[in-house]
Amino acid sequence: MTHVTKAVFPVAGLGTRFLPATKSVPKEMLPLIDRPLIHYAVEEARAAGIEEFIFITSAGKAALENYFVDMPELEETLARAGKTSALHALQSTQIAGGTVRFVRQENPRGLGHAVSLARDLIGDEPFAVILPDDVIRADTPALDQMIRAFGQFPAHMVATETVPAEKLSSYGVADIAQTFGRIQNLRGLVEKPRAGEAPSRSGIVGRYILQPSIFDHLCGLAPGSGGEIQLTDAIAADLANAGVNGFAFEGQRFDCGSVRGFLEATMAFAQDRPELSDVFAGDSSSCIRAA
Ligand code: UTP
Repeated sequence: MTHVTKAVFPVAGLGTRFLPATKSVPKEMLPLIDRPLIHYAVEEARAAGIEEFIFITSAGKAALENYFVDMPELEETLARAGKTSALHALQSTQIAGGTVRFVRQENPRGLGHAVSLARDLIGDEPFAVILPDDVIRADTPALDQMIRAFGQFPAHMVATETVPAEKLSSYGVADIAQTFGRIQNLRGLVEKPRAGEAPSRSGIVGRYILQPSIFDHLCGLAPGSGGEIQLTDAIAADLANAGVNGFAFEGQRFDCGSVRGFLEATMAFAQDRPELSDVFAGDSSSCIRAA
């Protein structure tokens, strides 16, 4: 199986949809139940065999960088107090045996620009890109599903999901030539198509496995949709050279970059926690009456 050992986490965006919270807290540090979005992303990568974790950060993201720092004194305090579950929760933030790197994106010039900054750390091998605000609830972690498929189909790979027609103009959309199970062989990708002009209903979401040839297209790429340097445009430009496949992953994706998606994710993930699963199940007004 093809070895993909490096993942890039672009986390330098402004997070304007979550203002005012994101004025001082990075979007990726907002907690979904009791752990920040970035935790879910790193856990998914780790489960897929990733060993090197490259964060593209910006000024004001110190809280995110600190999240992965070891805290031996706090660990000792918790151990001495016998607070085992708190200790385990703390230890789950450590990237044991892995390497963490931070690269600064000085200006938010777009996702494509953010990924281009990882070039020297990636070198000449395929790598994963994970957008932490796309949280995927799945039995087999979505990136793991993709890396397995990538072993058989080693072109660029983008995760796709079926999107309601009226929402397609907010997505990069796959132009599908042929489908083999969950693999979609693409003849093109269109970033944020105008209403009625989308080539399919398969929208591209925040998981990618890219060949290093992508960097030749990212560097020097002109700004695209929204005046930003778009990753989708670079993938489309490399299609003739490297090929591009969509991968219709198994699982449920939540757009935690939006308030609605974040709330939906909170409700879904609460269902997975036995101690919380009743919170959204019953008549919440009974809590108000009891209080
Ligand atoms: P979004 O499109 O969600 O933008 O970026 P955003 O700035 O984070 O949020 P809003 O739209 O203002 O609310 C998708 C991903 O790309 C990263 C973001 O951090 C997010 O993970 N990104 C985006 C960068 O790292 N740099 C950029 O210049 C733009």
